Amino acid sequence: MNILVISGPNLNLLGTRQPEIYGDWTLADIENACRSWAAGLNAKAEAYQSNHEGDIIDQLHRTTADAVIINPGALSHYSYAIRDAIEAIEIPTVEVHLSNIRAREPWRRHSVVAEVCVTTIYGRGVTGYRDAIAHLASRAAWPMRTLSYGPDDAQVGDLRLPEVEGPHRVVALFHGGLWRDTAGRDQLDAAAVDLARRGWASWNVAYRGSRSGAGWKTATSDAAAALDALANFGPEHGLSLDHVISVGFEAGGQLAMGLAGPTAEPRRVHPAAVAGIAAVSDLEAAYEQNLGDGAIADYVGKSPGEAPDRYAVLSPIARVPMGVPILIVHGDADDIVPVSMSRAFAGTAADSGDEVVYHELESVGNDDLHRPGTMAYERVADELDRLSRRIAATD
Ligand code: DQA
Repeated sequence: MNILVISGPNLNLLGTRQPEIYGDWTLADIENACRSWAAGLNAKAEAYQSNHEGDIIDQLHRTTADAVIINPGALSHYSYAIRDAIEAIEIPTVEVHLSNIRAREPWRRHSVVAEVCVTTIYGRGVTGYRDAIAHLASRAAWPMRTLSYGPDDAQVGDLRLPEVEGPHRVVALFHGGLWRDTAGRDQLDAAAVDLARRGWASWNVAYRGSRSGAGWKTATSDAAAALDALANFGPEHGLSLDHVISVGFEAGGQLAMGLAGPTAEPRRVHPAAVAGIAAVSDLEAAYEQNLGDGAIADYVGKSPGEAPDRYAVLSPIARVPMGVPILIVHGDADDIVPVSMSRAFAGTAADSGDEVVYHELESVGNDDLHRPGTMAYERVADELDRLSRRIAATD
């Protein structure tokens, strides 16, 4: 796979240009890093930078690359000509911004090119380029369809089907990133591909996080709508709606586990089991521990003292028994979500009568658990298989 990395106006000044916003890497540093990240995935990256709109459009027209990564700089916010060029060439394009454009001046918050890009990654600094390359590699590795589950542009998910005949068992995947709006489902791309390879239909869900100030409301209703949407397109794709496991990583664990047990609204699809991987299963404890430096308050909007009922509704640990089998996996070297949270959750859930399988993995940190190729991830995938057999046995 050949990837063209395009940088727009003023990005040639990176390194000295507002390092407090854009970091201290030069553009050459970023381009070199892209070449080696791409090489690590058996791809090739070439780079192009221009301060001129027309030149960028010409470059887009000329390219024979299989995929494009573009940081259009300020042109992102008003260049319909670049938007049209991306649409016209029909090459999968990822938009990247170093800074969190959503947290800056109002005119920067909107990108006119976003709607023609396969995804937009922002606010992750140079790591955003690495993630963009990984995303493009995952897209090429296994067929997928991006399907909407609601009217908002953010209410989408990627469905990947296994090669075997249906009906297909389903994993609904909810990514982590502490509900921050800079996080995205691309975190679980590689796992979504790997699970499809292992015979699952994987439904990798995007959901709206803490952006609105009432993040918990939109995130919770997005998660439920994403699961329910399986009832719409499930029959067409041979999905077995009785065999859905909702799996959440880190913050996504709170959402995935929130889909089991009693619900306020009637729902069309119920998970047959849930899995929390390094999950934030106790929001009150997470608030007290100041997990993610204010992430819980940003998400829930209030402290546990101000809104105890809200914390109780949102915290998986306060919602047991859930009445479905629960898989919990956590690494004891996790420096984002402490392993003690899963230990306490597993104990409380088991005491409440739930069927819980708990695995604490030695010397495993946070990220490995969703990265195919690591022993930690292999363990997660094996345990999901076991859970799936357990569901099939009770059918
Ligand atoms: C940028 C954000 C734009 O708003 C700005 O004009 C840039 C850089 C970013 O990478 O964060 O030039 O695209």
